[in-house]
Amino acid sequence: MIIEKQEDVTAAVLQEMHRTPDPRTKEILSSFVRHLHAFIREVRLTEREFQEAVGHIIALGQHTTPSHNEVMLICGSLGVSNLVCLLNNGANGTRPTQANNLGPFWRAGSPRVENGGSLLRSPTPGDALFFTGRVQDAEGRPIAGAEVDVWHSSPVGLYENQDATQAEMNLRGKFTTGADGSFGFRSVKPAGYPVPTDGPTGALLRAQRRHNFRPAHLHFLIHKPGFKTIASQVYSSDDPRLETDSQFGVTKALIGDYVRHAGEPAPAPDVGGPWYSLEHSFVLEPGESWLPKPPISRKVEAAGA
Ligand SMILES: [Fe+2]
Repeated sequence: MIIEKQEDVTAAVLQEMHRTPDPRTKEILSSFVRHLHAFIREVRLTEREFQEAVGHIIALGQHTTPSHNEVMLICGSLGVSNLVCLLNNGANGTRPTQANNLGPFWRAGSPRVENGGSLLRSPTPGDALFFTGRVQDAEGRPIAGAEVDVWHSSPVGLYENQDATQAEMNLRGKFTTGADGSFGFRSVKPAGYPVPTDGPTGALLRAQRRHNFRPAHLHFLIHKPGFKTIASQVYSSDDPRLETDSQFGVTKALIGDYVRHAGEPAPAPDVGGPWYSLEHSFVLEPGESWLPKPPISRKVEAAGA
């Protein structure tokens, strides 16, 4: 199609869709082009702004490494990750769900841990946390034999993949639920943490005068054949940034109830000071059991290594 005026461009691009054999690919690409062109018209994107946008997209790739996924990070900060999650879980977005963003820090191959075991693989100071989880179906029946991957940041706010001082796979572990659907572990109470701001996500947050923190949370990935795999996060009810999560991940269903214990004996004899307990139940829906592609593949290297 020969283009005469700006209105013709959208029609020309859509006309070329007719050769696309896969109907879903055709649907996605057609809608993407219609919305992208409508957006450009709505804001009357200037040539200078177009160049800037291209620069941001190039930078998303350039900031992505085997130990950091800038694309996943900005998807969270634009609300895209949680929108996709909530549309596809909780009876297709009609009910509350335990599902939440996978986030940029899940790694495959975490070490297997016995129920009740520790996630600490190198000294990690902080308040002891004893977690008990239950995996169940929508009727409350326990789901035995579910694989549960757990990961969280250290009390200084760094995941092991970001921090060469932590041991490989520190604060990560994989559990299997018992006959009653339960699993449990010992760790340290996580703190909220800043997301990296040296790339395009930082530029976005600065442009909007937003802070770059996430409220404290634990991550889970729960997998059992016959049920829809979910990623989940359980947030600390005492975190001051629950309402302003820079990744828009906090939902009402996922605010956990950490209980502080002082002067009571802990489940482990070596715990001296105050400690925390947390119980949480995860509901799985029937559906496709699949594992997502890990957003990162390895730990950051020590300086000079
Ligand atoms: Fe996280």
